[in-house]
Amino acid sequence: MKKVGLLFGMEQTFPPALVAEINGRDVDVSAEFVRIGGVTLEELFEYDVILDRISQDVPYYRSMLKLASLNGVRVVNNPFWWSADDKFFNYALAGKAGIPVPKTALLPSKQHPPDTTAESFRNLKFPLNWEEIFDYIGFPAYLKPHDGGGWKNVYKVHSIEEFFEAYSETEDIVMTLQESIEFTEYYRCYCIGKKHVHIMPYEPRNPHHLRYKADFAPSPAMLDTLRDLCIRICTMLGYDFNTVEFAVRDGIPYAIDYMNPAPDAERTSIQEDNFEWVLKHAADFLIEQALLGRAVPEEYSWSRFLRGPAAAKQ
Ligand SMILES: Nc1ncnc2c1ncn2[C@@H]1O[C@H](COP(=O)(O)OP(=O)(O)O)[C@@H](O)[C@H]1O
Ligand SMILES: [Mg+2]
Repeated sequence: MKKVGLLFGMEQTFPPALVAEINGRDVDVSAEFVRIGGVTLEELFEYDVILDRISQDVPYYRSMLKLASLNGVRVVNNPFWWSADDKFFNYALAGKAGIPVPKTALLPSKQHPPDTTAESFRNLKFPLNWEEIFDYIGFPAYLKPHDGGGWKNVYKVHSIEEFFEAYSETEDIVMTLQESIEFTEYYRCYCIGKKHVHIMPYEPRNPHHLRYKADFAPSPAMLDTLRDLCIRICTMLGYDFNTVEFAVRDGIPYAIDYMNPAPDAERTSIQEDNFEWVLKHAADFLIEQALLGRAVPEEYSWSRFLRGPAAAKQ
């Protein structure tokens, strides 16, 4: 019997429903919540697959998941890439791949990070070339963290004055300034296993409980385009469970937010039909992965050491 483990935090509905969904299927795979204490180097883990919904908030779990991966557990999402990734890199990468993204600039943090002084920033031109940045991005614009989620520290600013006011609140968070896409349609899309895509009209300007009640819907051509973009983006980044958000302006979908490796999947938040979709497809994918069995990653420079001393010398 293959085993799927779920690692999660404050979520109420999705993890238990997913365990029940997998255990209710007529397959040789069972699911349970991961139980773990302190971890030693010898920990081998009993799971074929672990679905990680929480290590972004619990660094202990991220390190534990890297060990699980080293020992052959298929971890969804890849803890190594997730640790390395950030949103600014994502925009640059998608842009190079020909995917429309808003104009974006990376800004040094307003305050010095802990244990640094002005001397730590001797390479930084000061004052910054603000005018050039504002001319490039324009207003309105979004000031938002280069890494993060949950709408934290996201500001929409309409002028230089508003920008500096918001920026002054951002402490030592590395921020980006991004062109606002003044959209007519907005989509939030689940992408699971780099192949299952579910496109949800989403109105971020509505109050929280009405965001999935948008008064627009994608045309068949837009559906095809969004599906293709979701798969390309998640394949490039290597995420197996992600949401990708697009703002559509003049018929062009701009990729806004696609680093959501533990996307909201609460029943009350995403609504019943979306919940049913994510439950079914997450279960399908995790079962498929579990049946493939454990596998040690082969793509890292350290992977070759695991194939024995001869391979390590190559
Ligand atoms: N460039 C943009 N143009 C239009 N809306 C944006 C833009 N950037 C962010 N937003 C709005 O702000 C919300 C939060 O920003 P996002 O980048 O998704 O950060 P988070 O990961 O914290 O959710 C988005 O859902 C969207 O509604
Ligand atoms: Mg978002």
